[in-house]
Amino acid sequence: MPDRKLQQQNLAPDQLSFLQSIRYSIFPGSFNTKTDREKYRGFFRTLILHFRPRTVPERTLRFTLTWGLGGMAVMLVLMLFGTGVLLKFVYQPLPDRAYASVLHLQNDVFFGQLIRNVHHWSGNILLVIVFLHFLRAFFSGAFHPPRQFNWIIGLCLFLAVLISNFTGYLLPWDQLAFWAITISMGILEYMPWVGEWLKKLIQGGSEMGPATLTNFFAIHTAVIPALLLILMPFHFWRVRKAGGVVVPRSPGENHEIKSKTVPAIPNLILRELVVALSLIAFILVFSVFFNAPLGDKANPGLSPNPTKAPWYFMGIQEMLLHFHPLFAAFVLPVFIAGSLFFLPYMKYDMNPSGVWFVSQKGRRMAMFSAISAAIATPIGIIADEFFVDFTAWLPGLPAVISNGLLPVTVLAVVVAGFYLLLKKKYAATNNEAIQAIFVFLLVAFIILTITGVWFRGQGMALYI
Ligand code: HEM
Repeated sequence: MPDRKLQQQNLAPDQLSFLQSIRYSIFPGSFNTKTDREKYRGFFRTLILHFRPRTVPERTLRFTLTWGLGGMAVMLVLMLFGTGVLLKFVYQPLPDRAYASVLHLQNDVFFGQLIRNVHHWSGNILLVIVFLHFLRAFFSGAFHPPRQFNWIIGLCLFLAVLISNFTGYLLPWDQLAFWAITISMGILEYMPWVGEWLKKLIQGGSEMGPATLTNFFAIHTAVIPALLLILMPFHFWRVRKAGGVVVPRSPGENHEIKSKTVPAIPNLILRELVVALSLIAFILVFSVFFNAPLGDKANPGLSPNPTKAPWYFMGIQEMLLHFHPLFAAFVLPVFIAGSLFFLPYMKYDMNPSGVWFVSQKGRRMAMFSAISAAIATPIGIIADEFFVDFTAWLPGLPAVISNGLLPVTVLAVVVAGFYLLLKKKYAATNNEAIQAIFVFLLVAFIILTITGVWFRGQGMALYI
């Protein structure tokens, strides 16, 4: 319809420009005058400005402030949605069909293997990117006011991404998936009071079977995507409400340092585009060369040796080898997750948001903690594997005390002592000392995970 006809319809100016823009999008050949091109550009500019701010502080454009990690997470979620929808056309969530449908996808469907690879690697990389984004938010103090609540939303997103990866893991119904999920379900059982019930609820019965696959499929393809669609916009809105990403505060005053602002188009949008396109290129190339793993069809009667949980739960599986299950699978994870949720609401000596590692001293302390954990954790693992055996040394005590309460209390005393030592040695603020403890536990957990993934062989024996 020519513009003249649209104009005759007595439309409001914004309706008119919207309809004209649609026409230019569908018939790009029709925008050949300068005014047409400007209108076309105007349409996209308006569209983008519905999602992104009109202006941004110039200093927040620095790549090393956020490392583009939040944006990469968004891009990965979009890729997962896109490839996930395509996978749904072929995949069949029934134990006797699932594996065959994945084989059919890989062997007979045009680009099927590539789509599965992109979905698989995007999911795993998303977990790593979200973890790094979480670390960046922590170390740049972005959990302090006014961003406390966004930290909580972020943690919920982290949980959603974890559950999404976990439920997706089972869907191919191969040996790898079946036994990794069986082991993880076993970990759940150690939760006091509700563990058994929760396991049955998620599994859809006392054994892994068709109901398990149905539940996992529904959670993976409906519940978690819906949750992400609600939480993500909420998360971005909170970033906007806080005035954009975190920047340092003016000394002694209770507000962030104001800096020159620049239009988001093209300054921010172009940068985001570069990050998004580079990520897509990387995942595509990676997916061309590396296929998503697929073992033999699941055989509930034959467990592989060793049977390992998915890599992101290996830290917990490794802890199970050292502590009583009640402590390894419940008390310690719940305590650590609870502390993370509580973190923004603790009383701090200062608000160092926007300053990496709190201060120069904070950076030195973090380094000291990382090195201490990198030395102490392997020593602890080896000592416990070959020399220490509280259960044999204290035969009169129940295992929950000798192998649970006792070693965990010793650990808590060591961590508390380390906190006090750091505070005294460096005359540190509680911000710096809490950060140092966080680094200590973080490095310890990473080493436990690496040990579980790479240094455990048959019967989960340690090989060094
Ligand atoms: C699917 C998962 C997530 C997505 C898509 C996401 C996305 C984003 C984006 C796009 C931003 C804007 C700044 C940036 O790019 O860094 C942001 C900021 C933020 N995110 Fe996330 N995020 C996710 C998970 C998390 C997690 C796990 C945490 C931490 C617990 C977190 C905490 C924060 C905080 C505190 C901010 C504000 C940072 C600032 O103002 O500098 N987010 N997120």
